[in-house]
Amino acid sequence: MRALNHILVTGGAGFIGANFIRYLFQKTDFSGKIVNLDKLTYAGNPENLTDIDEAWGGKRYFFEKADICDFDAVSEILKRHEIDTLVHFAAESHVDRSIYGPGEFVSTNIQGTFTLLEAVRAFWKDRQDVLFHHVSTDEVYGSLGDEGFFFEDTPYDPRSPYSASKASSDHLVMAYWHTYGIPVTLSNCSNNYGPYQFPEKLIPLMILNIKDGKPLPVYGDGRNIRDWLFVDDHNSAVWTILKGGRPGETYNVGGENEWENIRLVHTLCEKTAATLGRDPEACKGLITYVKDRPGHDRRYAINCDKIKGELGWRQTVSFETGLDTTIAWYLANTAWIDRVRSGAYRQWIDRNYGAR
Ligand code: NAD
Ligand code: DAU
Repeated sequence: MRALNHILVTGGAGFIGANFIRYLFQKTDFSGKIVNLDKLTYAGNPENLTDIDEAWGGKRYFFEKADICDFDAVSEILKRHEIDTLVHFAAESHVDRSIYGPGEFVSTNIQGTFTLLEAVRAFWKDRQDVLFHHVSTDEVYGSLGDEGFFFEDTPYDPRSPYSASKASSDHLVMAYWHTYGIPVTLSNCSNNYGPYQFPEKLIPLMILNIKDGKPLPVYGDGRNIRDWLFVDDHNSAVWTILKGGRPGETYNVGGENEWENIRLVHTLCEKTAATLGRDPEACKGLITYVKDRPGHDRRYAINCDKIKGELGWRQTVSFETGLDTTIAWYLANTAWIDRVRSGAYRQWIDRNYGAR
């Protein structure tokens, strides 16, 4: 029987992690405590959970600013909060950044995951009622052609420093199961979208550039394909795995919702223009084809029959509804956007991309 009572969420101030914590408090019967461990990089923003902190701070919700590469800090937090479940979201997550600066990806995604594994190995010892759940990506499987899907046993073939670092962390997690018997589960998920996503990723970047009348940079020929999943559906999958996933198993998670980038950008133009009362064709006129991302994976497509068949998980949010919710959120939350876009992020973008 799994304890599932004191959960440590790493990277809980980021996009998916913050939505996960909110999801647990608002949409599940979870009644234990959640500790959010986050270094607060450019992508981490404690404001993402102000409402949760106000409602549960110091009672069932605790924030700990720490680096997952810091063994002593992680060990102390595990002990002080008597952690029995660790959900590992913390990572450097943006492919483009990994191309310009891979070092942080190796450090956080590989060394950081290793450090967490070492810390739980020392703290949990031989306990079997505990769980280390590692959140990973479909990008570890590489790039598909026109046909086929990623399955759980598809050989790993990462192409970017980001996906290589995630693949490495996946292998470490599984090694700790096989070698030391640490109960682990792993999920490999496709592209998430929804509120609180840092506006360097395709969907929020496009919504905000449409709103601001700025160019919409489409990489290469715009025909690359991604499979999109609303963030709450990813988080319901993680919650489902925490409750019933078998130790040592990997579960693929996806939207079964493939879109060519250019078709998606057209849809975002139409929907955002309709909300703002603008001419959709004028918005489409902002589309600018730019130099392709080096090593740009052509197509991702997930087969998620295993989590559906074994654990009964299903996607619940249609792309139509999910996009409408996301567009409305980005158009309404201008203060949040201004703050996350200032400072280090702005300087990094200017340095690496110039003014787009
Ligand atoms: P994000 O970049 O929005 O958030 C990452 C969080 O990790 C931030 O809060 C950041 O401050 C924190 N962090 C970074 N380095 C840290 C360190 N050394 N110590 C402690 N905290 C640190 O990322 P996201 O999009 O929310 O992704 C979360 C996880 O899900 C990642 O592991 C990513 O690989 C995986 N994933 C993401 C997607 C997606 O579409 N975004 C899809 C599949 C899997
Ligand atoms: O598949 C899961 C992965 O999805 C996660 O593991 C990553 O953390 C997450 O960032 C995401 O990676 P992608 O590289 O697929 O996401 P991104 O939003 O950066 O790009 C989506 C597609 O859009 C990709 O084909 C590149 C393209 N793109 C992206 C940007 C930012 C553009 O054409 N123009 C852009 O400006």
